[in-house]
This record gives sequence, structure tokens and C-alpha cells, in this order.
Amino acid sequence: MIGAALASSSLVQPGTAAPARAQGAAAGRANPGTNPGAKLTVNLTVNGEARQLSLDPRASLLDTLREGLALTGAKKGCDHGQCGACTVHLEGRRVASCLTLAVQADGRAVTTIEGIAPEGGELHPMQQAFIDHDALQCGYCTPGQIMAAIALVREGHAGSPQEIREYMSGNLCRCGAYAGILAAIQDAAPKMRRA
Ligand code: FES
Ligand code: FES
Repeated sequence: MIGAALASSSLVQPGTAAPARAQGAAAGRANPGTNPGAKLTVNLTVNGEARQLSLDPRASLLDTLREGLALTGAKKGCDHGQCGACTVHLEGRRVASCLTLAVQADGRAVTTIEGIAPEGGELHPMQQAFIDHDALQCGYCTPGQIMAAIALVREGHAGSPQEIREYMSGNLCRCGAYAGILAAIQDAAPKMRRA
């Protein structure tokens, strides 16, 4: 499974693997290829907060968020890049965190569902729209759906129902709440643009 994640990581966030390696080399870190048990020091900015972690270089960003930082909003559905339940933002771009190595996020900003609205404040317009349109049933896919939907609007892909369906196609919902999800995105998109 780890091998698959390593092999697939460059497909998820093209261009991030090389800079992460370059940053690691510049910092004089141990080469895990010569010392399999070595840990790497990784500096992440997670939801605006600087975090330093000592990690197995094979650790996924998803496992690091959930198990290392107790941020359990991002869900592990398939762990293979096929369901979107683990979607988070890396430098503002949506990624499947199950296929992103934590070391690829070194020196970068990660935003999870826990960080899109101020604690105790108003919900993000996309969160509110999901509630208003009953865009969930069990809720397991919902954090990933919302993170993908926010990114979709920022990418400029909320122009039509067809376009929204296409650009949300990486996020699966076993409960079949797709009609509500579409309605929520159509509702939230103009509110996000005005904000
Ligand atoms: S858990 Fe990452 S895509 Fe399914
Ligand atoms: S709300 Fe249950 S999987 Fe989407």
C-alpha cells in the first residue's frame, strides 16, 4: 500500500515532489534511502498554525493530519485516490491527502475542513449551503465534498451544472446526495465570489 502511495503521489500534485526533495536536501536532512528507519523533520502550516513533526518519510498527509495532529475531518475512504473523502487544500489547491506524502507538504500551507471557518464564528458559505440543501446523509464524504467544492469555485468551474458535475466527479457519495451537493454549490458560488 505504501508503495502504491509513493508511486502515485506525483500524479496527485505534479511538481510538488521535486521541490519537497530540494527543500529537504537544502536542510541537510537524512536520506531515508540509506537509513530506512530515519525520521524526517517536516514543517507544515496547518490551518494557519505552524507545526513541526518528526515523520516516517512514507507517511501520507492524510495519516499525518488524522493521527499526528488529531484533525479527523478529512476521511479515509479508499486510501487509493478514488473517492475524494480525504480532500484537503495544499497551497490552496485541492489534493487527495491519501496520495500526498506529508514530506511533499514541507514548508507549505495545508487547509483542512477544520480551518475553513473561524472557530465559534459563522460557517463558510459552502458549509452553510450543504446544510441548507440537505447535501449529506451519513456525512462521511462531506468534508471532502466541501473542500473540493470550495476549490472548484475558486478554480472558476462552477459555471454550469454540467461543469460542476464534471469537476466534482472525483468525490464520490455512497449515499447519493449528488442533487443536494449540486444545489449547494450553485447556491454558495455567488456568495463566495462576493465575500
Ligand atoms: S481516501 Fe483519498 S481518495 Fe479515497
Ligand atoms: S453523505 Fe454518505 S457518503 Fe456522502
